Amino acid sequence: MSNIDINDIVYTPLSLDTSKHSKESINSTILELKSLIDKHLSEPYSIYVYRFFLNNWPELCLIAKYGDEIIGCIISKVETHRNVRIRGYIGMLAVNEQYRGLGIAKKLIDLNLNSMINTYKCDEIILETEVVNKTALKLYENFGFIRIKRLFRYYLNKHDAYRLILPINEKSTIRSTFSVILNKEELIESKY
Ligand SMILES: CC(C)(COP(=O)(O)OP(=O)(O)OC[C@H]1O[C@@H](n2cnc3c(N)ncnc32)[C@H](O)[C@@H]1OP(=O)(O)O)[C@@H](O)C(=O)NCCC(=O)NCCS
Repeated sequence: MSNIDINDIVYTPLSLDTSKHSKESINSTILELKSLIDKHLSEPYSIYVYRFFLNNWPELCLIAKYGDEIIGCIISKVETHRNVRIRGYIGMLAVNEQYRGLGIAKKLIDLNLNSMINTYKCDEIILETEVVNKTALKLYENFGFIRIKRLFRYYLNKHDAYRLILPINEKSTIRSTFSVILNKEELIESKY
C-alpha cells in the first residue's frame, strides 16, 4: 500500500481487560486476530490456543493496528526450559499482504524481544519456520537468530521446519545436564 503513513500504525498488546472492553469486543478482536493468522500461516490453531497465549502472556501478544483494522500481530510465550533456563518462544507472526515491506514485522519482533529480554529475563528465544519461507528466515536471521535443527515434515502441509534460536546469554550455550537448576522463584509456568 503506497499511501500509508507508517506513523499512523499503532502497536499495542491485545487487551483482555474486561473493565476496559466488553466481552463481545474482546471476542471479536480475538476472532479478527485468528482470521489474520489462519489466512497467512499453514497451521490451523483453535481459539483455545489463542486464549492460552493471551491469558498467560498478554504483553507478548502484540497487534499492529491501522485505523480500526488489525494489520499484523505477533504471539509469543515464555516458559522455563528443563528447569535450567528461561526460554521465549515466538509462536505466530503475520502481516496483512497490503502492508508488507513497511517494517511492521521488524517492529513487532523488536518489541517482543525487548519484553522477553528485559521483563522476562529470557536466556534464549526460539521459533520454528518453514524451510521454504525465505522471507521469514531472512527476517529472523537479521535479528541474529541461527538455525539449530531441521524438523522433518514438521507441519501439517508436510513441509520441513527450521528451528531457530537467539541466544541471549551464555546459559543458552550450556547443555542442560551441566546447567544449574533455577530457584523456585525463577521458574515461569503457564497458569491457565
Ligand atoms: C514474514 C512477514 C511477517 C514479514 O512481514 P513484513 O512486515 O513485510 O516484514 P518487514 O517489512 O518488517 O521486513 C523485514 C525483513 O523481512 C525480510 N523481507 C521482507 N519482505 C521480503 C521479501 N519479499 N523477500 C525477502 N525478504 C523479505 C527482509 O529481511 C526485511 O528486512 P529489510 O527490509 O531490512 O531487508 C510477512 O511476509 C508475512 O506475514 N508472511 C506470512 C506469514 C509468515 O510467513 N510468518 C512468519 C512465519 S512464523
